[in-house]
Amino acid sequence: MILIKNKLAIRKMETAGNFLAEICLEIEKELLVGVSTLQIDTILSQKLSQQGLISCTKGYMGYKHSSCISLNDEVVHGVPSEKTKLAYGDLVKVDICASYQGYCADMARCFFVEKKENSGEKLVKTAQESLDAGIAQMKVGARLTNISAAIQQKVEAQGFGVVRDFAGHGIGKRMHEEPEILNYGKSGQGPLLQVGMAFALEPMITAGSYEVYITGDGWTVKTKDKSLAAHVEDTVVLTDNGPKILTRLENNGEVGL
Ligand code: MF3
Ligand code: CO
Repeated sequence: MILIKNKLAIRKMETAGNFLAEICLEIEKELLVGVSTLQIDTILSQKLSQQGLISCTKGYMGYKHSSCISLNDEVVHGVPSEKTKLAYGDLVKVDICASYQGYCADMARCFFVEKKENSGEKLVKTAQESLDAGIAQMKVGARLTNISAAIQQKVEAQGFGVVRDFAGHGIGKRMHEEPEILNYGKSGQGPLLQVGMAFALEPMITAGSYEVYITGDGWTVKTKDKSLAAHVEDTVVLTDNGPKILTRLENNGEVGL
């Protein structure tokens, strides 16, 4: 069942989302050569507590950290480690999910370590564009897989791959709620979208084959062919005025419910 969120729930999710958006802006300056991903996670963890947010990932199925930090050919669920140090030009994916007064928001962004121009730029731009294309399909009365099809179309139009083994999800009191939102597929299928539905949309895309595997740590997802991967995620609620992105600061203001 897809749970419908009321105004109060959405306000709390929006508070969580706005804080995550701020934290993602602030973290970029910390992504410097030689810094470990565990140090980044520690900073993120402190920022969450300062804002009164509770990490949804710490303690989740034995996961010990407040963020997932995935580098280069790591797609998602990279485990912060003292041994993993950032190098010049690394493509870093930072993924954070946290709750405010019991309601979650989930967000991921891509960054390049100390480097503006990068060969991975087009991949990251495409991931962002595919996320926006997915969000644009969140309309009352539309079908769920319209989102999936729009994401796939954007990604494949650029010649990139869409990871099949992981998906977006409903979100609310829990980090993962129904429905599962695939990043590929035919449009016009699945449940009808309604006001009050909240989704974490998260395209995971690759410069090569879309095939991935989970490494020996039991979490980190990598591309099989070692190609570069990008992942971006926003928490979005469907309102009377269309989709409202809770994890972007430019969307501040009243919830249109
Ligand atoms: N934030 C991730 C998501 O988008 C969840 C990571 S699961 C973890 O669904 F346990 F690895 F943190
Ligand atoms: Co998510």
